Amino acid sequence: MLQASAPGKCILFGEHAVVYGQPAVAVAIEQRITVEISPSEDWRIDGMRFDPNRHPHVEALKQRLWDGGPPLSVKILGNIPPASGLGSSAALSVAAAAALRCARGRQIENDDWTEGWTASRINEVYTGIGKHRKGTSLLAGKGSVDEDECAILAHAVEAFAQGGRASPIDSSTCAHGGCIILSNKIETRYNWLYSRELNGVKWDVHSVDLPAQLDDYYLVIGNTGIKAPTAKQVEKVAKLLQENPGRMVEIEAIGKIARRGIEALMLGDMEKVGHAMSENHLLLKNLGVSCPELEQLISAAVPNSLGVKLTGAGGGGCMVALTKDPKSTSEAIELAGGRTLITRLSSSGLELDKEGNGPIWSPF
Ligand code: MEV
Repeated sequence: MLQASAPGKCILFGEHAVVYGQPAVAVAIEQRITVEISPSEDWRIDGMRFDPNRHPHVEALKQRLWDGGPPLSVKILGNIPPASGLGSSAALSVAAAAALRCARGRQIENDDWTEGWTASRINEVYTGIGKHRKGTSLLAGKGSVDEDECAILAHAVEAFAQGGRASPIDSSTCAHGGCIILSNKIETRYNWLYSRELNGVKWDVHSVDLPAQLDDYYLVIGNTGIKAPTAKQVEKVAKLLQENPGRMVEIEAIGKIARRGIEALMLGDMEKVGHAMSENHLLLKNLGVSCPELEQLISAAVPNSLGVKLTGAGGGGCMVALTKDPKSTSEAIELAGGRTLITRLSSSGLELDKEGNGPIWSPF
């Protein structure tokens, strides 16, 4: 049996606008998804017969990493509520990609990959048509797993599920953990990881170390309990912009707020971070991606928080409050009907928890 896990994410600034290339920031949260795989007589997910329509992310990964491989039993465990804006599908995709890669190993030649998904094969990963050259030796277990590869695969799978409109904010944060910043250019102050390009939009993905004083601050996430698929919300904004191209200025305004928020975050000026979060929310509300249930939880959290906004795709799902007093903030949100999760502003990324006893299958 092999087991891998990845964290959920919380977007602090820039959701929706990031789909159009504007900057965004997300942190990995303490809540995680764990994926376990083991050989089986037929394909199963959580003991039930595998239905590709119910699990499009697993199906898309299967096509890219397990094409022609023997059936597996997949178990999905964890505490990230699904379709709630916290990256449950990206965390699932990252963890499943790692488990599948570890279960097949990787062909290498002269210490170099002869197969795998890298930035140079980016078009193939999105279409899923990659073919691999046979290498001479097999790298097995943990050593065969690569965070960037899991991130690129998870992005491809998210893009597939969101009709081609998906930024890499969720997939990169769930793979690398910590705090991830996306920008439309390489920011030399941050640790540049890679570029991604999809349907004419380009993002430069960076990681940053947050200042130590942030340890005194918490995020309280309030879940409305309303499931809101990201694809629908992204589509709604796309339609709004198609019908009113002038409203692109609002998308650009979110980008400007995100830049201001990032500066404040890096300086540890949490009053300013909170202020920028609340401003970001007003613009998201104007775009039509909030809902009365989110607004109710947001209003309840305002008195005990430095800043409050919806997080993720909206239309239901979750809001997030930045606070020094998570107990009071959480109580206020729960009293208004939300279910809360409390997390610090950063958590570890992908982990391979059990690597099994050598590859289950090799396509070569
Ligand atoms: C979803 O977590 C974030 C969105 O910006 C979509 C995306 O970036 O792909 C709404």
